[in-house]
Amino acid sequence: MLQLSATMNSTWPTSAEHPLLPTDEAHVWAAPLDIASTRFDTLWNTLRPHEQQRADQFRLDAPRHRFVIARAALRILLGRYLGVEPGDMLLTVDANGKPRLANRDNVPELHFNMAHSDQLALIGVTRGCEIGVDVERLRTVRHAAHIAQRYFHPNEVKTIEAAPPNDRDAAFMRCWTCKEAILKAIGVGITDSLAAFQAPIVDDGGRGSFVAVPTHSHGKSARCWLQRLNPGDDYVAAVAVVGIERKIRCMTVVL
Ligand SMILES: CC(C)(COP(=O)(O)OP(=O)(O)OC[C@H]1O[C@@H](n2cnc3c(N)ncnc32)[C@H](O)[C@@H]1OP(=O)(O)O)[C@@H](O)C(=O)NCCC(=O)NCCS
Repeated sequence: MLQLSATMNSTWPTSAEHPLLPTDEAHVWAAPLDIASTRFDTLWNTLRPHEQQRADQFRLDAPRHRFVIARAALRILLGRYLGVEPGDMLLTVDANGKPRLANRDNVPELHFNMAHSDQLALIGVTRGCEIGVDVERLRTVRHAAHIAQRYFHPNEVKTIEAAPPNDRDAAFMRCWTCKEAILKAIGVGITDSLAAFQAPIVDDGGRGSFVAVPTHSHGKSARCWLQRLNPGDDYVAAVAVVGIERKIRCMTVVL
């Protein structure tokens, strides 16, 4: 169970507008989920009835508020890119459970993905290619060694085991977020074994690199541009974009 942090300070610059999104860029937005409750009603009203019903199924207030703020942030951001009201766009999920924009005729090429952990949501947006994001609040992971043995590439396991004891949980989570971002970008079709590909978990200075991911498709590999992200104190994150390299631009949304 996560301990809730008092506040979440994203280190990324804030923006109340959306910048242009050229096809060689991917935008990753941090949405702190601990905003003042006075804004809550406004954000609640951006949700569609089925999303409000989903929110009402949370028994505890804190996760319910975080779900509402994250979903409102997603709608507000996508609305800014599309030039429509947040409540106007239709979101659907594909056969693999990945959320997508419905009515693609009006919104060709815009792809998004979201992740949340504790007080922070990340929303990645691209044009013309699939994107996946993952974020985790740093914490002690029970059975981390067992999970790593089960899911990670042997070289990843070695890197984690070689980390100083006080950095081992962070090393595990850096690896986890990289793999999960790739998984969320590619979706189903990824090979059964997540250990079959290796995420670059050593510090690359935030430059990013390509990862070849085996797929079920006739032995072919999917090529992902993967970059580790540092959205704020106590969080690790990663973004994966399928295909060509993208310049990753990170911002904090103002809701
Ligand atoms: C779908 C999945 C990726 C979500 O991961 P999670 O850690 O529970 O949650 P995250 O915060 O990262 O992401 C949740 C968001 O992902 C998005 N999402 C849901 N299904 C998705 C899918 N199939 N593909 C991409 N994105 C998806 C949604 O926007 C969701 O937010 P919402 O529930 O508010 O709508 C997860 O349920 C799953 O199946 N994970 C596989 C686990 C695994 O093998 N991990 C390997 C790591 S080594």
